[in-house]
Amino acid sequence: MAEELSEYKGPATMEKITSLAKRRGFVFQSSEIYGGQNGAWDYGPLGIELKNRIARLWWKEMTQLHDEIVGLDASILMHPRVWEASGHVENFTDPLVDCKKCKNRFRADQIDQAKLAKKECPECGGELTETRKFNLMFKTNIGAMEDSSNIIYLRPETAQGIYVNYKNIIQSNRMKIPFGIAQIGKAFRNEIVTKNFIFRTCEFEQMEMQYFVKPGTDVEWFNTWKERRWNYFKKLGVKMEYLRWHQHGKDELAHYAKDAYDIEYLFPMGWKELEGVHNRGDYDLSRHMQFSGKDLQYIDQDDNNARYTPYIIETSAGLTREVLMLLCDAYDEEKVADKGNDDDWRTVMRFHPSIAPITVAILPLMKKDGLAELAQDIRTELKEDYTTDYDQSGAIGRRYRRQDEAGTPFCVTVDYETKENGTVTLRYRDSMEQVRVPKAELAERLRKEIKEYKRK
Ligand code: GAP
Repeated sequence: MAEELSEYKGPATMEKITSLAKRRGFVFQSSEIYGGQNGAWDYGPLGIELKNRIARLWWKEMTQLHDEIVGLDASILMHPRVWEASGHVENFTDPLVDCKKCKNRFRADQIDQAKLAKKECPECGGELTETRKFNLMFKTNIGAMEDSSNIIYLRPETAQGIYVNYKNIIQSNRMKIPFGIAQIGKAFRNEIVTKNFIFRTCEFEQMEMQYFVKPGTDVEWFNTWKERRWNYFKKLGVKMEYLRWHQHGKDELAHYAKDAYDIEYLFPMGWKELEGVHNRGDYDLSRHMQFSGKDLQYIDQDDNNARYTPYIIETSAGLTREVLMLLCDAYDEEKVADKGNDDDWRTVMRFHPSIAPITVAILPLMKKDGLAELAQDIRTELKEDYTTDYDQSGAIGRRYRRQDEAGTPFCVTVDYETKENGTVTLRYRDSMEQVRVPKAELAERLRKEIKEYKRK
């Protein structure tokens, strides 16, 4: 394991990331023309490509590469009893205080505890209310009536959709323990504090996998999944010295957890939770049996038809939080000239090519003399396999910089030599090295480069 860093020393700041995200179309503030909606963000053309790629990679890692893990897409709206059984109605709360003077609202556990004891507002010094429990679930009504008989919640985690379908999946897919169910989808939490861009939002996406195991084997599987999740980030080419484990203390454990570890990432604002691996024991299935009256026990045909309630090992990742992590991780500033002006520096997003929003940009050196048409033909060929961009405006150096900022790992430049001998310039984002490649070999060459990519 790489040595742990004590503080963030990289070139990114949250201001730089937020500004680049908007400038280049990764992430926009929701409803911006109306002054913005707190806790909600929109993913622009580059952002949605990045988010989709991360989701696809996670899906492959968690389902395609494991014969015993299958997928699910459960609905966001579920029977309200689900959230009573899960413990969310009773326990999914944050401690909240309000300032009677400035009307600001704070999480009691996140403000200066000496001031809290004196009931003093950390912003204006005004008087704070008593601490009260605030449930994070969004509550609404389904159907025409607005009364307590038709309350429905927006799901605060995707996990419960998996537990309530666990029996369906065993029966329809003949699953045998140990097995897993994976799901990617939206979740909603009425977060009191939503600062730090897309880190903590009211609407977000989760990528969760629930692994059902025989009681007694849970600790071993918990450790296996910890190791697998760690290795996922290695594969993604993330700076491993920016990652660490954090075990939840007794006071941090969620109401369902027997044991829990977070993978934390060193963001510009410090070490923060990226995702978690949880041993949920038999809490969830036992509670759903109790509340639904249905038998959710497993009959183990490999163990003399023994009946038991499986234990659950959960890997729970925030997709949108992973987008933020990868934006911070990829962000770099590099001095590339010494002319004493702004052009001496380039901003470069060093995404792994397998998640970069644009894989290859095709740039004709000139618009004239048939170079633009030639470049468009090359783009058409590459489109089948890669996300491409085409840019014919401005000096070639400026066009490279634009692609560096978008994180495009490869640029293909079409010039007069292309007309003569069919070769193009392949330019690498990270090293800025340029090599001549026959255009007929481009698709295969890119495939090899993506597969063998190693971040320096
Ligand atoms: N099913 C377990 C569960 O939901 P969690 O620790 O509450 O566990 C899992 O959430 C992950 O979901 C977190 O590690 C984080 O990546 C993401 N997440 C949670 N709340 C979030 C929020 N308000 N905004 C963005 N991501 C969030």
